Amino acid sequence: MTKIIKINPYDIDEESLMEAADVIKHGGLCAFPTETVYGLGANAYDMEAVQKIFKAKGRPQDNPLIVHISRAEDVYPIVKRVPEKAHPLMERFWGGPLTLIMERSGKVPPVVSAGLCTVAVRLVAHPVANALIRLAGVPVAAPSANISGRPSPTIARHVIEDLNGRVDCIIDGGSCMYGIESTVLDLSVDPPVLLRPGAITSEEIEEAIGRISLKAGDGAPKSPGMKYTHYSPKATVFAVEIDRANKVSKLSGKRVGILSYGVSKDEICGDIVLSAGKNIREYAACLFYNLREFDSLGADVIYAVLPPSGGMGDAVRNRVIKAAGGKFL
Ligand code: TXA
Ligand code: MG
Repeated sequence: MTKIIKINPYDIDEESLMEAADVIKHGGLCAFPTETVYGLGANAYDMEAVQKIFKAKGRPQDNPLIVHISRAEDVYPIVKRVPEKAHPLMERFWGGPLTLIMERSGKVPPVVSAGLCTVAVRLVAHPVANALIRLAGVPVAAPSANISGRPSPTIARHVIEDLNGRVDCIIDGGSCMYGIESTVLDLSVDPPVLLRPGAITSEEIEEAIGRISLKAGDGAPKSPGMKYTHYSPKATVFAVEIDRANKVSKLSGKRVGILSYGVSKDEICGDIVLSAGKNIREYAACLFYNLREFDSLGADVIYAVLPPSGGMGDAVRNRVIKAAGGKFL
């Protein structure tokens, strides 16, 4: 049985949240809202609890998890050392949507990092996530709270759709502000490598620490998660550059969905048109929500208009292109 606990992020009832913290303390699984997307958490120091996360999500064993903390100083027991370049980033962007990869300490069981000698750490800003971790008294390993391959959940209903009956508790704390997952930066190498773009942009990171490498080197993917199917609704997705949006046409026998951005309504033609938002923040905040919405509206095909690159546009383009499995119109 999955217990659903409703928590108002603006007026946290610590007694109710303690119930969820107890689940984590006792080796159970609890889904919770963060400022990016919902996470599925377990005690990062408890190997068996962490293994349950992989099982509940159907997550491949070689895809490492992010360890979430509630205070900056809690990073020290998790990593072997904090590299110099981490400090300005921690000061500017923690708590928030930035995950830093450093060398893993012996305290963190290898299963958290899928056997890698590094570990990903993020200090969360969301008041519910932050209080939950503080009350649990342990760092919390958590991937996004979706079945592997599905769009990340940004509201509790989507977590319930995917994980009801598979986890001990789900905290309903409303919708997530950013709507896409954190930026992931590998600080175990120099120059640091951006493994996943997010709301903290490469431009902002470079302003804080100088040059970073924007693409993971060749060979085995450094961020194993990036090689799997991602963010897939049931419909088939195609990415569309803005200047080709007028090429989308109706298809006989199929319901065509369009995620529209930066184009006027009369330029596009489809059966279901959802607006991606007025600006890139709105696009990000509602992207995964919209992908799931197309499913409930019965779309067979989704054409998603891409935002321009640069800034947060990079992160949104990355998610849309992954949802499309690299297919373009
Ligand atoms: O915003 C977020 O990051 C959300 C919330 C819940 O914090 N979490 C999230 O987790 O998106 P997940 O598991 O869906 O994505 C984590 C990404 C994966 O691509 C994984 O491969 C990468 O981070 N990652 C984690 N640890 C790593 C490591 N030690 N080395 C390289 N990549 C790592
Ligand atoms: Mg995920």
